[in-house]
Amino acid sequence: MKILVIGANGLVGSGVANVLRKNHEVISASRSSDVNVDVNDPASIAAMYKSVGKVDAVVACIGKVAFKPLAELTRDDYLKGITDKVMGQVELVNQGLDYVNDSGSFTLTTGVLAREPIKTGALAALANGALESFVIGASIEMPRGIRINAVSPSVLAEAEGYHPYFPGFTHVTLAEVTNTYVKSVEGWSTGQIYELG
Ligand SMILES: NC(=O)c1ccc[n+]([C@@H]2O[C@H](COP(=O)([O-])OP(=O)(O)OC[C@H]3O[C@@H](n4cnc5c(N)ncnc54)[C@H](OP(=O)(O)O)[C@@H]3O)[C@@H](O)[C@H]2O)c1
Repeated sequence: MKILVIGANGLVGSGVANVLRKNHEVISASRSSDVNVDVNDPASIAAMYKSVGKVDAVVACIGKVAFKPLAELTRDDYLKGITDKVMGQVELVNQGLDYVNDSGSFTLTTGVLAREPIKTGALAALANGALESFVIGASIEMPRGIRINAVSPSVLAEAEGYHPYFPGFTHVTLAEVTNTYVKSVEGWSTGQIYELG
Protein backbone atom coordinates (compact mmCIF):
# COMPACT_ATOMS: atom_id res chain seq x y z
CA MET A 1 0.00 0.00 0.00
CA LYS A 2 0.96 3.63 -0.47
CA ILE A 3 0.36 5.32 2.89
CA LEU A 4 0.52 9.01 3.75
CA VAL A 5 1.42 9.63 7.42
CA ILE A 6 0.94 13.20 8.63
CA GLY A 7 2.94 13.97 11.76
CA ALA A 8 5.41 11.23 10.89
CA ASN A 9 8.30 12.82 12.80
CA GLY A 10 6.41 13.06 16.11
CA LEU A 11 6.43 10.52 18.94
CA VAL A 12 3.35 8.61 17.79
CA GLY A 13 3.79 9.29 14.07
CA SER A 14 7.43 8.19 13.87
CA GLY A 15 6.52 4.89 15.53
CA VAL A 16 3.61 4.40 13.16
CA ALA A 17 5.65 5.31 10.07
CA ASN A 18 8.51 2.98 11.08
CA VAL A 19 6.19 0.00 11.58
CA LEU A 20 4.16 0.58 8.41
CA ARG A 21 7.36 1.10 6.36
CA LYS A 22 8.26 -2.59 6.88
CA ASN A 23 5.49 -3.65 4.49
CA HIS A 24 4.35 -0.53 2.66
CA GLU A 25 5.48 2.60 0.87
CA VAL A 26 5.19 5.36 3.50
CA ILE A 27 5.18 9.06 2.68
CA SER A 28 5.96 11.30 5.65
CA ALA A 29 4.37 14.72 5.90
CA SER A 30 4.50 17.56 8.43
CA ARG A 31 5.65 21.15 8.61
CA SER A 32 9.29 19.98 8.59
CA SER A 33 9.13 16.73 6.57
CA ASP A 34 10.07 16.11 2.93
CA VAL A 35 6.40 16.49 2.07
CA ASN A 36 5.52 19.81 3.63
CA VAL A 37 2.07 20.49 5.10
CA ASP A 38 0.54 22.76 7.69
CA VAL A 39 -2.82 21.23 8.60
CA ASN A 40 -4.04 24.61 9.84
CA ASP A 41 -4.02 25.82 6.24
CA PRO A 42 -6.48 24.11 3.84
CA ALA A 43 -4.46 25.38 0.84
CA SER A 44 -1.38 23.63 2.24
CA ILE A 45 -3.38 20.38 2.59
CA ALA A 46 -4.55 20.74 -1.02
CA ALA A 47 -0.95 21.23 -2.21
CA MET A 48 0.19 18.17 -0.23
CA TYR A 49 -2.43 15.89 -1.77
CA LYS A 50 -1.71 17.25 -5.24
CA SER A 51 2.00 16.50 -4.88
CA VAL A 52 1.48 13.04 -3.35
CA GLY A 53 -1.36 11.88 -5.61
CA LYS A 54 -3.52 8.82 -5.00
CA VAL A 55 -2.91 6.83 -1.79
CA ASP A 56 -4.38 3.75 -0.15
CA ALA A 57 -4.37 5.13 3.39
CA VAL A 58 -4.06 8.42 5.23
CA VAL A 59 -2.89 8.33 8.85
CA ALA A 60 -3.04 11.54 10.92
CA CYS A 61 -0.80 11.60 14.03
CA ILE A 62 -1.21 15.29 14.81
CA GLY A 63 -3.17 17.56 17.10
CA LYS A 64 -2.15 20.34 19.45
CA VAL A 65 -4.36 22.03 22.04
CA ALA A 66 -3.71 24.30 25.04
CA PHE A 67 -3.60 22.67 28.48
CA LYS A 68 -4.82 25.31 30.96
CA PRO A 69 -7.11 25.50 33.99
CA LEU A 70 -10.71 25.72 32.82
CA ALA A 71 -11.15 29.25 34.16
CA GLU A 72 -8.13 30.46 32.16
CA LEU A 73 -9.10 29.00 28.79
CA THR A 74 -10.03 31.78 26.37
CA ARG A 75 -12.24 31.72 23.30
CA ASP A 76 -9.03 32.08 21.28
CA ASP A 77 -7.55 28.99 22.97
CA TYR A 78 -10.68 27.01 22.10
CA LEU A 79 -10.72 28.19 18.49
CA LYS A 80 -7.00 27.47 18.01
CA GLY A 81 -7.31 24.00 19.56
CA ILE A 82 -10.36 23.10 17.50
CA THR A 83 -8.73 24.49 14.35
CA ASP A 84 -5.56 22.45 14.86
CA LYS A 85 -6.64 19.10 16.31
CA VAL A 86 -10.22 18.83 15.05
CA MET A 87 -10.37 20.76 11.77
CA GLY A 88 -6.79 19.77 10.84
CA GLN A 89 -7.83 16.11 10.81
CA VAL A 90 -11.34 16.71 9.45
CA GLU A 91 -9.87 18.69 6.54
CA LEU A 92 -7.44 15.84 5.82
CA VAL A 93 -10.52 13.64 5.38
CA ASN A 94 -12.58 16.25 3.55
CA GLN A 95 -9.95 16.84 0.88
CA GLY A 96 -8.51 13.34 1.07
CA LEU A 97 -11.71 11.72 -0.20
CA ASP A 98 -10.59 12.71 -3.72
CA TYR A 99 -7.20 11.03 -3.24
CA VAL A 100 -7.86 7.82 -1.29
CA ASN A 101 -8.30 4.77 -3.51
CA ASP A 102 -11.38 2.52 -3.37
CA SER A 103 -11.48 0.50 -0.12
CA GLY A 104 -8.74 2.68 1.34
CA SER A 105 -8.78 4.19 4.83
CA PHE A 106 -8.34 7.17 7.10
CA THR A 107 -6.98 6.71 10.62
CA LEU A 108 -7.23 9.71 12.95
CA THR A 109 -5.73 10.30 16.39
CA THR A 110 -7.68 11.30 19.50
CA GLY A 111 -6.84 10.32 23.10
CA VAL A 112 -7.95 9.16 26.52
CA LEU A 113 -9.13 12.63 27.56
CA ALA A 114 -12.27 12.04 25.48
CA ARG A 115 -13.40 9.62 28.20
CA GLU A 116 -11.48 10.47 31.40
CA PRO A 117 -10.69 13.95 32.73
CA ILE A 118 -7.48 15.45 34.04
CA LYS A 119 -7.09 18.98 35.39
CA THR A 120 -6.26 21.40 32.52
CA GLY A 121 -7.60 18.86 30.00
CA ALA A 122 -11.04 20.28 29.11
CA LEU A 123 -10.03 21.58 25.68
CA ALA A 124 -8.27 18.31 24.80
CA ALA A 125 -11.43 16.47 25.92
CA LEU A 126 -13.53 18.68 23.66
CA ALA A 127 -11.29 18.13 20.65
CA ASN A 128 -10.96 14.36 21.13
CA GLY A 129 -14.69 13.90 21.68
CA ALA A 130 -15.57 15.94 18.60
CA LEU A 131 -13.20 13.92 16.43
CA GLU A 132 -14.47 10.60 17.77
CA SER A 133 -18.07 11.60 17.04
CA PHE A 134 -17.01 12.70 13.56
CA VAL A 135 -15.48 9.29 12.88
CA ILE A 136 -18.67 7.51 13.95
CA GLY A 137 -20.88 9.85 11.96
CA ALA A 138 -18.74 9.93 8.83
CA SER A 139 -18.15 6.19 8.69
CA ILE A 140 -21.53 5.34 7.18
CA GLU A 141 -21.22 7.94 4.43
CA MET A 142 -17.71 7.23 3.19
CA PRO A 143 -17.78 6.61 -0.56
CA ARG A 144 -16.25 3.70 -2.53
CA GLY A 145 -15.74 1.43 0.49
CA ILE A 146 -13.36 3.85 2.17
CA ARG A 147 -13.03 3.21 5.93
CA ILE A 148 -12.41 5.62 8.81
CA ASN A 149 -11.27 4.90 12.39
CA ALA A 150 -9.63 6.71 15.29
CA VAL A 151 -6.89 5.53 17.64
CA SER A 152 -7.52 6.88 21.15
CA PRO A 153 -4.57 6.06 23.40
CA SER A 154 -3.92 6.75 27.05
CA VAL A 155 -0.66 8.52 27.80
CA LEU A 156 2.30 6.70 26.27
CA ALA A 157 4.89 5.02 28.50
CA GLU A 158 7.51 6.80 26.38
CA ALA A 159 5.94 10.25 27.01
CA GLU A 160 7.43 10.53 30.50
CA GLY A 161 7.05 14.29 30.68
CA TYR A 162 3.25 13.89 30.66
CA HIS A 163 3.08 11.24 33.39
CA PRO A 164 2.76 13.66 36.36
CA TYR A 165 -0.37 15.15 34.75
CA PHE A 166 -2.02 11.71 34.37
CA PRO A 167 -1.91 10.27 37.92
CA GLY A 168 -2.90 6.62 38.02
CA PHE A 169 -3.58 6.40 34.30
CA THR A 170 -2.48 3.25 32.51
CA HIS A 171 0.56 3.88 30.33
CA VAL A 172 0.41 2.30 26.90
CA THR A 173 3.56 1.46 24.97
CA LEU A 174 4.39 2.93 21.59
CA ALA A 175 4.46 -0.64 20.26
CA GLU A 176 0.86 -1.26 21.41
CA VAL A 177 -0.25 2.03 19.92
CA THR A 178 1.48 1.55 16.56
CA ASN A 179 0.04 -1.96 16.29
CA THR A 180 -3.44 -0.49 16.55
CA TYR A 181 -2.76 1.84 13.62
CA VAL A 182 -1.64 -1.24 11.66
CA LYS A 183 -4.97 -2.91 12.55
CA SER A 184 -6.87 0.13 11.31
CA VAL A 185 -4.90 0.42 8.06
CA GLU A 186 -4.55 -3.26 7.12
CA GLY A 187 -7.83 -4.52 8.63
CA TRP A 188 -11.47 -4.21 7.61
CA SER A 189 -13.09 -2.18 10.38
CA THR A 190 -14.76 1.21 10.04
CA GLY A 191 -16.33 3.67 12.46
CA GLN A 192 -14.17 2.28 15.26
CA ILE A 193 -12.67 4.24 18.15
CA TYR A 194 -9.77 2.09 19.31
CA GLU A 195 -9.46 2.91 23.00
CA LEU A 196 -6.08 1.95 24.49
CA GLY A 197 -5.51 2.16 28.23
N1 LIG B 1 2.14 11.35 23.36
C1 LIG B 1 1.14 10.75 24.01
O1 LIG B 1 1.31 10.16 25.11
C2 LIG B 1 -0.25 10.76 23.43
C3 LIG B 1 -1.26 10.02 24.07
C4 LIG B 1 -2.53 10.04 23.55
C5 LIG B 1 -2.81 10.76 22.39
N2 LIG B 1 -1.81 11.46 21.80
C6 LIG B 1 -2.14 12.24 20.60
O2 LIG B 1 -1.34 11.83 19.53
C7 LIG B 1 -1.14 12.95 18.63
C8 LIG B 1 0.36 13.11 18.38
O3 LIG B 1 0.99 13.27 19.63
P1 LIG B 1 2.58 13.18 19.76
O4 LIG B 1 2.86 13.00 21.21
O5 LIG B 1 3.13 12.21 18.77
O6 LIG B 1 2.98 14.67 19.34
P2 LIG B 1 4.41 15.21 18.82
O7 LIG B 1 5.50 14.30 19.22
O8 LIG B 1 4.45 16.63 19.27
O9 LIG B 1 4.28 15.16 17.23
C9 LIG B 1 3.41 16.00 16.54
C10 LIG B 1 3.59 15.78 15.05
O10 LIG B 1 2.66 16.62 14.35
C11 LIG B 1 3.37 17.44 13.40
N3 LIG B 1 2.65 18.72 13.37
C12 LIG B 1 2.45 19.58 14.39
N4 LIG B 1 1.73 20.63 13.96
C13 LIG B 1 1.49 20.42 12.65
C14 LIG B 1 0.81 21.16 11.64
N5 LIG B 1 0.21 22.34 11.91
N6 LIG B 1 0.74 20.65 10.39
C15 LIG B 1 1.33 19.47 10.09
N7 LIG B 1 1.98 18.72 11.01
C16 LIG B 1 2.06 19.19 12.26
C17 LIG B 1 4.79 17.56 13.97
O11 LIG B 1 5.75 17.77 12.96
P3 LIG B 1 6.26 19.24 12.53
O12 LIG B 1 6.63 19.97 13.78
O13 LIG B 1 7.38 18.95 11.59
O14 LIG B 1 5.08 19.87 11.82
C18 LIG B 1 4.97 16.15 14.53
O15 LIG B 1 5.30 15.27 13.50
C19 LIG B 1 -1.80 14.16 19.32
O16 LIG B 1 -3.11 14.31 18.82
C20 LIG B 1 -1.86 13.72 20.78
O17 LIG B 1 -2.89 14.35 21.50
C21 LIG B 1 -0.53 11.47 22.26
